[in-house]
Amino acid sequence: MDAIEVIRAKRDRGELTTAQIDWVIDAYTRGEVADEQMSALAMAILLNGMNRREIADWTQAMIRSGERMDWSALDRPTADKHSTGGVGDKITLPLAPLVAACGAYVPQLSGRGLGHTGGTLDKLESVPGWRASLSNAEMLDVLRSAGAVVCAAGSGLAPADKKLYALRDVTGTVESIPLIASSIMSKKIAEGTGSLVLDVKVGSGAFMKTVTEARELAETMVALGTDAGVRTVALLTAMDRPLGRAVGNALEVAESVEVLAGGGPADVVELTVRLAREMLEAAGIAAGKDPEKALEDGSAMDAWRRMISAQGGDPDALLPRAAETMTVEVPASGVLTRLDAYAVGLAAWRLGAGRARKEDPVSFGAGIELHAKPGDLVRAGQALMTLHADETSRFERALEALEGGYAVGDATEEQLPLIIDRIT
Ligand code: URA
Repeated sequence: MDAIEVIRAKRDRGELTTAQIDWVIDAYTRGEVADEQMSALAMAILLNGMNRREIADWTQAMIRSGERMDWSALDRPTADKHSTGGVGDKITLPLAPLVAACGAYVPQLSGRGLGHTGGTLDKLESVPGWRASLSNAEMLDVLRSAGAVVCAAGSGLAPADKKLYALRDVTGTVESIPLIASSIMSKKIAEGTGSLVLDVKVGSGAFMKTVTEARELAETMVALGTDAGVRTVALLTAMDRPLGRAVGNALEVAESVEVLAGGGPADVVELTVRLAREMLEAAGIAAGKDPEKALEDGSAMDAWRRMISAQGGDPDALLPRAAETMTVEVPASGVLTRLDAYAVGLAAWRLGAGRARKEDPVSFGAGIELHAKPGDLVRAGQALMTLHADETSRFERALEALEGGYAVGDATEEQLPLIIDRIT
């Protein structure tokens, strides 16, 4: 077999055989298929698609490129959640300890932010001392002591996806449903979780801009998980406006701690509790503690403190703050009709909360505090948001990103419901 034959087959809208897929993923992982050949194949897949059988074969081949983790030594079921990413999406931070407090183990491998969406590991690294890299044995220790672990995937997990995702990122081939679904699910299946809840975001701040696209991605991923023996369910949720009132690493940790203390913004609380219920149901834990109760009685907060400490972090340490702030005022009195997730995400990224290249550092304190959300009554001159950055020179480009990103009018514009649909 050779790479040109496989590329030509997909270029000409053919269906790749299982043998072709197994060969090309294995040969690419070993360096026998060159990056330029794989990028041509990725582009052919983006343009011509893959059917469900091809996507399942592609996913299985990527899983087989590395190790598969195993949590069978644990005495309770495992449950995980994956979000396709958004602006202000800090849900993993309160959710993982909350679900642990309700009776499941949560082994979560997470990622870093790239572009305008944040990454869970960058957020947690703003807690002084917290460590993202753990060996498999350390992961098991943290799971046993805290009930939840959130850490970086080691180099042995789906190495084919690691190489391919970096290539897609620089060849304009990220936005393909077969490639996104197989990339996410190969890592989640290899991670060894028994059940999985997918939070597929929809709107300007998400990969999927429409409900139709998001539904197709969710259905594809649910089928891949279910066929691989992982109990999988997906929620389609709104990302046309930011989630919560904090966007940026340390600011989002602070908001997550508020939720764990029984407070926090209503949308973050609602989504956290709903996802927790879905995870417990998928894990088959019917008699566990109710998530709302675990937020009220402090047991979720206790699990958070154990989880942070077990990974070297100090849950009582002061979080980093940016040196400079700037207030953006409401331009006119009325109803805040729009607050666009992409504009806010891009502005936070330009303030230093995100990175342009994988190797860049992030500023932990940078980001945006939102003082109003769509539907709120606002008065001209009141604070709409506070921008945080380490250098004042960053404010101008952040303000440019926000231009046209919010509006005040007479009545609220139509916005997506927070939870749009559930796919099983
Ligand atoms: N996240 C992933 O892990 N892979 C993709 O392809 C897109 C988002």
